[in-house]
Amino acid sequence: MAADAIPEFPFDRPTALEPPPQLAELREKCPVAHVRLPSGDVATLVTRYDDARAVMADPRFSRNLAREGAARLSTTEDGGLFNRRRVNTMDISEGQGHLRWPRLLGRWFTMRRMELWRPRVQAMTDDLLDAMLAKGSPGNLSAGLALPLPVRVICALVGAPSEDQDKFAHWSRVMLTLTRHTQEEVDQAYREFNAYVSDLVDRNRADPGDDLLSELTQITDAEDGRLSRAELIATVRGLLLAGHETTSNMIAIMAAMLLAERRRYEAVIEDPGLVPGTVEEVLRLDSTLSVIGGVPRFITEDVELGRTTVPAGSTLIPNIPAANRDPDKFPDPDRFDPRRQNSGQHLTFGAGPHYCLGQPLARLELQVVLTTLAQRLPNLRLRDSADDLRLRTGGLSGGLQDVWVTW
Ligand code: HEM
Repeated sequence: MAADAIPEFPFDRPTALEPPPQLAELREKCPVAHVRLPSGDVATLVTRYDDARAVMADPRFSRNLAREGAARLSTTEDGGLFNRRRVNTMDISEGQGHLRWPRLLGRWFTMRRMELWRPRVQAMTDDLLDAMLAKGSPGNLSAGLALPLPVRVICALVGAPSEDQDKFAHWSRVMLTLTRHTQEEVDQAYREFNAYVSDLVDRNRADPGDDLLSELTQITDAEDGRLSRAELIATVRGLLLAGHETTSNMIAIMAAMLLAERRRYEAVIEDPGLVPGTVEEVLRLDSTLSVIGGVPRFITEDVELGRTTVPAGSTLIPNIPAANRDPDKFPDPDRFDPRRQNSGQHLTFGAGPHYCLGQPLARLELQVVLTTLAQRLPNLRLRDSADDLRLRTGGLSGGLQDVWVTW
């Protein structure tokens, strides 16, 4: 690891869509490097594909950073989302509990089951697009489509009224703070969010509908019995948190990435068969979704990564954008190639036991949106220059500020 001054992290970037050049430099020269976080604490940044994959997939590495010696990420006293105890799916997705939970939930999140949602996702996309088009060009694709679509989908999935979407957006923004909110604001958001979800679960148990949560309240698992109320609450909290902001941001990023170099978009118009490959390349090449680039892990034993020994007590950050552009895995990695054979092996949805549960749904939403835009809006363009796109700052979750388009 480099002995010289520890660089401040996250790094600056030339434009919103381009990754910070330091990531490529570190991947080549110092693939396991110390960085200083906004809290002032030091973490270990991992930038090669094989190493980042190994870090994410190793069940010995803990996602619980609410422990002695773990680096705090955020400037709030609690150190941010990952440092708080018992906040989201991670309560039940660590250790023993983790074996049971994805097994129960995984049944509902298969590609096949999610395909059944395609007509609903299509109808929601068309409705939102109709409303955006009715207001006339130019339109804000973020507010009109990217933001509301995944919230509507996740609300339908867990049986929450979609009128409540602004509340989720507010709570998750505050809970995912890096530098933007005070501890008091964060605590209040947790309280309100938890009360909302408990109430939703109780109402749903009393009066089940045709949504996933209602099914979950009814399932029985041969070994362990049905999910407890606490587990249901943690599950819904996790789905609402993990499922909407990520996908919203990725929809806006996808539009920006394709319209910034419009031949990518034109290629899909000419050949709709390129939609899945285009979506995978967007996912692989994105560098804005997560401000630190991945979900950190805490290690309680020394670990070999490449030729480096990382000591017990370190907090590792597997940096997904850096890993996804590793030339040893993806030849000519910066090139956008919807026909690339292995682009689906990107690490944007993680790897191993914590591999994103919602990835079939996220992929479905991205594919439906891209197909629909290409069909309905062949003249879609960014209103402004791609250099004018701005990142959202101050949170763990990044993404773009408004993406304005014309058609
Ligand atoms: C483009 C959108 C998305 C991206 C980029 C994304 C990314 C990720 C990543 C990187 C992980 C692994 C975290 C780790 O290794 O610690 C993860 C886990 C998870 N994601 Fe996603 N996700 C997306 C959409 C969704 C959606 C739509 C849902 C739910 C409907 C969802 C639910 C989850 C859950 C529950 C986990 C925890 C899985 C476990 O610990 O077993 N995600 N996601």
